[in-house]
Amino acid sequence: MQPKVTRIPTLLVTGSNGQVGFELRRSLAPLGRVMAVDRAGCDLTRPDELRRVVRELRPDVIVNPAAYTAVDKAETEAELAYAINGVAPGVLADEAKALGSLLVHYSTDYVFDGRKDGAYVEADAVDPQSVYGKSKLAGEQAIAASGATALVLRTCWVAGAHGGNFAKTMLKLGRERDSLRVIADQFGAPTTAALIADVTAQIISRHWLRGRREAFPAGVYHLAAAGETTWHGYATEVLRCAAARGIELKVDPARIEAIPATAYPLPAPRPANSRLNTEKLRETFDIHLPDWQQGIHFLLDQILS
Ligand SMILES: NC(=O)c1ccc[n+]([C@@H]2O[C@H](COP(=O)([O-])OP(=O)(O)OC[C@H]3O[C@@H](n4cnc5c(N)ncnc54)[C@H](OP(=O)(O)O)[C@@H]3O)[C@@H](O)[C@H]2O)c1
Repeated sequence: MQPKVTRIPTLLVTGSNGQVGFELRRSLAPLGRVMAVDRAGCDLTRPDELRRVVRELRPDVIVNPAAYTAVDKAETEAELAYAINGVAPGVLADEAKALGSLLVHYSTDYVFDGRKDGAYVEADAVDPQSVYGKSKLAGEQAIAASGATALVLRTCWVAGAHGGNFAKTMLKLGRERDSLRVIADQFGAPTTAALIADVTAQIISRHWLRGRREAFPAGVYHLAAAGETTWHGYATEVLRCAAARGIELKVDPARIEAIPATAYPLPAPRPANSRLNTEKLRETFDIHLPDWQQGIHFLLDQILS
């Protein structure tokens, strides 16, 4: 009997040094041959280079966590933000379509204006208030226009062990300062890069590599940890956990001052409401999303060990 020859799937990951890109290298590894490229290996501002990399590798799946994420700087670097967040995803989508491959892309709560009372569903009207949000929406639209089979995962408040984020900033400030003022009127769910990467891997494995490709439920989905808090609640949890792990802090986690966003003006407006309703993702892909505290506790174990 002839031995069964199985082709090993190839997965291309952009932005491999970012928070999510770094975790994808781990989570996608059991699925096949992961080709992870950083900015030097594949610069998203160069469409020709992007096309060349994809055409050479001919991946079964393109995963694109690379993005221009400097939200405030984007206000004065709109052209660059649009090139990376708006144009490049469309190029990747065109290439994925030509190959018959799946594109997985990430977007953001910043596509909304943040004025809704409850959690945002995928069908809610978009109205980004910042250049970053507008450039990310342009990326979503370019993907939709391409007709590629694509999964667009909108997430929020991302924190990973690799890269900078709010949790790490709070840990640093909590050690350096005896008082902290943190915004308490913006709501969302801290979501770890590890959770985003794990969910991505689950979906690719179950529904693309082992599923019926023609039945793949492509589209936009909201992906965030369960529960909600404010930046103030998030900071308090991070520093309370750090103290419980024996980290010496100058600030008392119970005495972090709660301030309104108006007391901390930034160049780019942030949505007051970043709550994302994740029902569509959970039901379509049969995925369980744990509480945000669980992810943040795991993350702190990694950061503080
Ligand atoms: N961070 C958040 O709170 C948040 C919230 C909602 C949605 N998202 C979305 O989630 C996704 C992942 O975010 P993240 O937090 O992992 O971002 P991140 O840590 O800032 O990583 C972004 C990566 O993109 C790379 N990159 C930037 N410009 C590039 C270019 N011209 N060519 C190639 N690579 C380039 C960066 O490379 P360098 O390492 O060389 O700079 C970096 O490795 C993004 O789509 C983001 O918009 C993030």
